[in-house]
Amino acid sequence: MLSLELKLGRILLYSLTLAVIVSGAPADTHATTDATVSSSAEPSTPTDPFASDDANPILWSPDSHTIPEAVRGPYGGSVLRPQNVAIDKENADMLAPPTTDHGDMPNAKWPIGLSHNRLQTGGWARQQNIQSMPIATQIAGVNMRLDAGAVRELHWHGTAEWGYIMKGSVQITSINQNGQNFLSTIGPGDVWYFPAGMPHSIQATNESVDGAEFILVFDDGSFSEDSTFLLTDWLSHVPKEVLAKNFQVPMSAFDRIPSEELYIYPAASSPDEKQLPVSAGGTIPDSYTYPFSKTSFTPLSGGSFKILDSSTFPASKTIAAAEVIVEPGAMRELHWHPTQDEWSFFLEGTGRMTIYAAQSNARTFDFKAGDIGYVPASNGHYIENTGNTTLRFLEVFRSDRYQDIGLQQWLALIPAQLVQEHLGLSAETLAHLNKTKQTVVGPV
Ligand SMILES: *[C@@H]1O[C@H](CO)[C@@H](O)[C@H](O)[C@H]1NC(C)=O
Ligand SMILES: *[C@@H]1O[C@H](CO)[C@@H](O)[C@H](O)[C@H]1NC(C)=O
Ligand SMILES: *[C@@H]1O[C@H](CO)[C@@H](O)[C@H](O)[C@H]1NC(C)=O
Repeated sequence: MLSLELKLGRILLYSLTLAVIVSGAPADTHATTDATVSSSAEPSTPTDPFASDDANPILWSPDSHTIPEAVRGPYGGSVLRPQNVAIDKENADMLAPPTTDHGDMPNAKWPIGLSHNRLQTGGWARQQNIQSMPIATQIAGVNMRLDAGAVRELHWHGTAEWGYIMKGSVQITSINQNGQNFLSTIGPGDVWYFPAGMPHSIQATNESVDGAEFILVFDDGSFSEDSTFLLTDWLSHVPKEVLAKNFQVPMSAFDRIPSEELYIYPAASSPDEKQLPVSAGGTIPDSYTYPFSKTSFTPLSGGSFKILDSSTFPASKTIAAAEVIVEPGAMRELHWHPTQDEWSFFLEGTGRMTIYAAQSNARTFDFKAGDIGYVPASNGHYIENTGNTTLRFLEVFRSDRYQDIGLQQWLALIPAQLVQEHLGLSAETLAHLNKTKQTVVGPV
């Protein structure tokens, strides 16, 4: 803890620095004196003062034993009024932000644990969409749990659906507009994709007594899990006389249809795969599932990385994704995604991300397993592992292809003179810029 005197001293020093900047006194030490850079390359107006040397690390972790204080160096003060210590422990960079944060970047974090849950016999489902996080216009997410054998009933919706299994295994069924059908059973780390409007079911197999849990992604931020089209909901709202005529059977054939939707219901087991009827049109040519768990990770200096998009999973025309592993002390490098917003889901560990949103706007968010993050297209960001355990997360995009621009690769592949003029880097640092996209970098 800093002494009061020292604090006051630092505040005074800061105020003096401010006064110098505000009064426009020469702060031109930024201008390079490197003789190899010609004078015509010198900026014609006085340069800004150097950025602060403050390191700005995260100040505590969710399992720190200290009571969080809204204090960073000489700034802030303790919290005197009632304090939600658990929230503050999980959001160190909210209570004591880095001094590099600035402006009014909208909220970009939604812990799925804050979503209202829908409990059914057989499982539950909770969602994040534009209502819970207004910045998330392109993608919505649902976290769903099915008991062993339980079924998310036959349904469809106007958005495409991408699913990633976190635990257990599920059997899915579908047909397409050509009457081609599909049935597949996949497990943890595997993915499915249903194009917009295609009818489907999801059923946990009884392989594990715990059933299954998965994360669903929809390519529209205003999607709501509560407004999908359900087989039972539809049929209970069609005159029975019409049902009889449609199926060319007596009305009594429908004596036992439910009066309202099932949504999720318990069942003993999924059908044997051989029960899939043979279709004259055959099965759906571009599989709706992908064994992503079998794709190997590309090793990187600070972790590993793998991508899934329509280049290997052709059905997935509107969703591209990456699964990222960042080891303790490492970080997903500074980068951005050119045209697509990123929807991220944290699977394990803790991390922090600063989103840079142009015009001096930047805000830092802390994440842990079960949190959703959102980064608008082209906004610069990084994700740093702030814990002692592996950080693993998904980056998901409304796109047919995964794309990112790495800051380091950019700076390494343009003339060094330009970079030097902007950043005043030494020849040694310029030479150190790596031309290979790093993606995840280890500790220095
Ligand atoms: C599990 O499912 C299979 C068929 O998929 C079935 O034969 C078996 O009886 C089921 N086991 C239990 C415990 O329900
Ligand atoms: C990581 O471990 C070190 C040493 O045990 C400990 O001092 C530190 O607080 C831990 N950090 C976090 C974020 O848990
Ligand atoms: C650049 O990065 C690649 C990939 O991480 C690494 O293999 C290589 O050693 C690096 N090159 C230099 C000069 O550091």
